[in-house]
Amino acid sequence: MTAPYIVIEGMDGSGKTTQAKLLIDFLKNHKFKVYHNIEPSQSPIGKHIQQMIKSTASRPETTALAFALDRMLSYDQNLKYAKEKYDYIIADRSYLSSLAYQPLQGCRYDWIKELNRYVEKPDIVFLLDIPPEEFTKRRGKTKVIFENEDFQRKLRHSYLSLKENLPLDIIILDGTKPKYEIHERIRELTVKL
Ligand code: TYD
Repeated sequence: MTAPYIVIEGMDGSGKTTQAKLLIDFLKNHKFKVYHNIEPSQSPIGKHIQQMIKSTASRPETTALAFALDRMLSYDQNLKYAKEKYDYIIADRSYLSSLAYQPLQGCRYDWIKELNRYVEKPDIVFLLDIPPEEFTKRRGKTKVIFENEDFQRKLRHSYLSLKENLPLDIIILDGTKPKYEIHERIRELTVKL
């Protein structure tokens, strides 16, 4: 049996990293082997992407290609093996981020879908949903071009419509709830996989 691929998705500042950490700690405390996958990755391409999204110099299509390539390479070089060797894969972001963000930059949704046709598909997605005003409250120093309330408002719609459009198990969770309450729901569904 291969490890379930569990994805935590959501807007900037929705609490993905906190929830991934709580879930990983919980599973490790129960002696499971857990692989943490983060997108964009720490590879040279992932690091290049971090630069690309700091300004509007790159065309959105170039950014979309870079995200898809980073994802495909990470799978070939790490995730494919991790699925065999670990009990759980916990991922901070996935191709759903590309489907939610890049169309808002002007890329065609169907083209993004096609680009990501061969990426690994999640067994379950936890989508942390927060109102855009909450993003503004939580936001620290702005790092990337997506971090403004107007973009985050559109992004929220983009994410919520993925639940209707993708044949995936997408669980929407209220990201404004206390973090341990959210964690309990995530872990309850994770251990059932
Ligand atoms: P990062 O600082 O790693 O943010 P986070 O901790 O919120 O994941 O920056 C990643 C940014 O890139 C984030 O704003 C979401 C965006 N992104 C895309 O636009 N498309 C994608 O496919 C992915 C994976 C991320």
